[in-house]
Amino acid sequence: MEKNINIPKHIGIIMDGNGRWAKSKNRPRVFGHKAGATALRKIVEHCRRIGVEYLTVYAFSTENWKRSQEEVNALMTLFKTYINSERKMLLDNNVRFMVSGRKEGVSESLLKAIEKLQEETSKDYKMTLNIAFNYGGRAEIIDAIKKIKDSQEEVTEENFSKYLYNDLPDPELIIRTSGEFRISNFLLWQIAYSEFYITDTYWPDFDEKELEKAIYSYNKRERRFGGRLDAE
Ligand code: FPP
Repeated sequence: MEKNINIPKHIGIIMDGNGRWAKSKNRPRVFGHKAGATALRKIVEHCRRIGVEYLTVYAFSTENWKRSQEEVNALMTLFKTYINSERKMLLDNNVRFMVSGRKEGVSESLLKAIEKLQEETSKDYKMTLNIAFNYGGRAEIIDAIKKIKDSQEEVTEENFSKYLYNDLPDPELIIRTSGEFRISNFLLWQIAYSEFYITDTYWPDFDEKELEKAIYSYNKRERRFGGRLDAE
């Protein structure tokens, strides 16, 4: 990356287009999801290299249960495989692994694997990979309200995020691949002031160069509206 680039501290990504990518190659949808997992590895490594501190990716939404049983099973299995295959990369790169989402519906064995990797990567980390899995933004807000009901604290805009699944700083940049202009129930509370970047590229083709393009575009907008880099 060029120098003097403002790297967002937290990037959120809606990894869309695995199915269309697979279709364009006459392959089953699951083939696209597998390629999506490979793309994710490269993006995690690159985020770590360039100094992104938090990366939240949308891997399975509460809506995704409506897909065919075959595809749901494949995504569950893929996540389990991902946890095993990426363990070393995450530890070698000092990346903390986290998951945001509801536990209901997720198998005991997957929940155990998640918990184990969360624990193993919770120390000496330099970056956080937060996987939104069985995640819905409205569900997250409802679940926060339920927690608040049991608390004595006065709730404010500043402390509300403490009650969300994971208390991370708000993302400065949200990326959506494969061309749709929708938020799809992703991080509803946290995106109040986020910049959006939408690319036509399908998620399996989204690579380091594409990520840098998104960050450059974010910087251009910062220059125009943020005032932070105007003094250069
Ligand atoms: C959206 O593409 C993608 C998903 C619903 C799944 C995202 C999953 C991955 C990128 C795999 C790696 C992640 C883990 C950790 C399991 P789509 O299927 O909606 O694509 P389409 O809109 O072209 O059909």
